[in-house]
Amino acid sequence: MEPTLIVVPDYTAMSEMAADIVVETLNSDPTAAISLPTGSTPVGMFESLIRRSRAGDVDLTRFQLFCLDEYLGVTPDDPNTLTSWLHRTFIHPAGIPAEHVHSLPVTADNPSSAATDYEQAIVEAGGLKLAVLGIGGNGHVAYNEPGAAADSRTRVLDLAQESIDQAAVYFDGASVPRQAMSMGVGTLLEAEKIVLIVSGESKQEILRKTLRDPMSADVPASWLRLQPKKVTVIADEAATGLLST
Ligand code: PGA
Repeated sequence: MEPTLIVVPDYTAMSEMAADIVVETLNSDPTAAISLPTGSTPVGMFESLIRRSRAGDVDLTRFQLFCLDEYLGVTPDDPNTLTSWLHRTFIHPAGIPAEHVHSLPVTADNPSSAATDYEQAIVEAGGLKLAVLGIGGNGHVAYNEPGAAADSRTRVLDLAQESIDQAAVYFDGASVPRQAMSMGVGTLLEAEKIVLIVSGESKQEILRKTLRDPMSADVPASWLRLQPKKVTVIADEAATGLLST
């Protein structure tokens, strides 16, 4: 069995379909724990969710938002953090209460025990009902870089150079941290439902490797195929150009 693959015409359709799944999840369980990604891919989904919340179609004020990843050692007031990006793009305009946002404990004295506590907080919130993920050009999901094991947990890890280069556009000249804390692949695989959103020609090759090559730590996103029943890949046509080869 393979994950469900839904091919949609374009970015807008991908964004709306991903938002549909978030809305369905929250309408059946308004206090659910959900993980949502950062990056350019989810922006349209966030815009759709904000619109639908303002229209009264979904209540975004009760769910628990668990962040997927964050740069090690950055403080919440740093505008370059992933969490502050998420605040500006989604949390604030959507009116999500700050106390419902769980960010990675990247300034803890003991990051490893703080990471274990983060996992415990997910369990106490009832486990992830939904994890929406983007995919990096090198196959990372959250910040599980090539080499990440299928059973990896929330932890500190070294960023791949490709990820550092990709993140530089968000850093406005400041240097990008070389380490991050990220939910593990194993943590993500425990979510009840996983949605991978993929858009654009630049993701064609990594999507092909993710879905068609043998599963491997070289492409951490390929581990999602270990839980095919849970996983839906929503990809636009531009991203799927190499799938038949
Ligand atoms: P992108 O990033 O949405 O900006 O392509 C995805 C990722 O690195 O996870």
